[in-house]
Amino acid sequence: MATTGTEIILALDSDDLGEALRMVDMTRDRVRTYKVGSILFTRYGTDSVRRVKQAGGEVFLDLKFHDIPNTVRGAARAASGLGVRLFTVHAPGGVEMMRAAAEGAAEGAVGAGVERPLVVGVTVLTSIRGEGDTLDLVLRRAAAATEAGIDGVVCSAREVSAVKSEYGSGLVAVVPGIRLGGESGDDQARVATPGGAASAGADFLVIGRSVTRAADPAAVLEHIEEDIRNA
Ligand code: C5P
Repeated sequence: MATTGTEIILALDSDDLGEALRMVDMTRDRVRTYKVGSILFTRYGTDSVRRVKQAGGEVFLDLKFHDIPNTVRGAARAASGLGVRLFTVHAPGGVEMMRAAAEGAAEGAVGAGVERPLVVGVTVLTSIRGEGDTLDLVLRRAAAATEAGIDGVVCSAREVSAVKSEYGSGLVAVVPGIRLGGESGDDQARVATPGGAASAGADFLVIGRSVTRAADPAAVLEHIEEDIRNA
């Protein structure tokens, strides 16, 4: 693992669980935690989480809960009961909703006898182009996340250092929109290299297609680790 402490989460955005599990097998030596998001979860349900865990990975459940507080509390309780390491809510859902998520996460963990997952709030999707006030919006949503007492935020590499200096290094920063030098950004707009995101202070990099579409995913991961180490 990198000296910066930045850890890679590999996004399994496949609509085929078998293919996703093969990716876990291929990369398990280099990756501790895998993202299960709406694609796998909608198709395979909680089985997707169980199977990734059985294959030796921990799970970042990225379902971006956004609803009234009572509903999100229940969803958070259920997510937590699955024994995931982190899960997401949408920060625009507000302080009360995020507080309910934190409470639900704690309740679910006690009920299932597992460790409480980290609850992270998605500030502004990294696919949204960063015009003028994006930083301001990210900071306001990070403020709400802090007030609600959740563990961290999802933001782009561009906003990490401002978020950390404003709300403290203890607020976990999860950063998607990672592209290796020279690669296309696909639908991502606020992108950075792994080293760039690591030196900005990211705790977790959520990386998908750069690795999963590569001919040799393990080799790309090795390259990413080196980029983080040299950050
Ligand atoms: O394939 P790529 O590296 O773009 O994957 C990035 C992952 O991070 C995707 O699974 C995407 O859903 C997720 N994500 C994101 N922006 C956020 C939150 C999550 O791109 N704000």
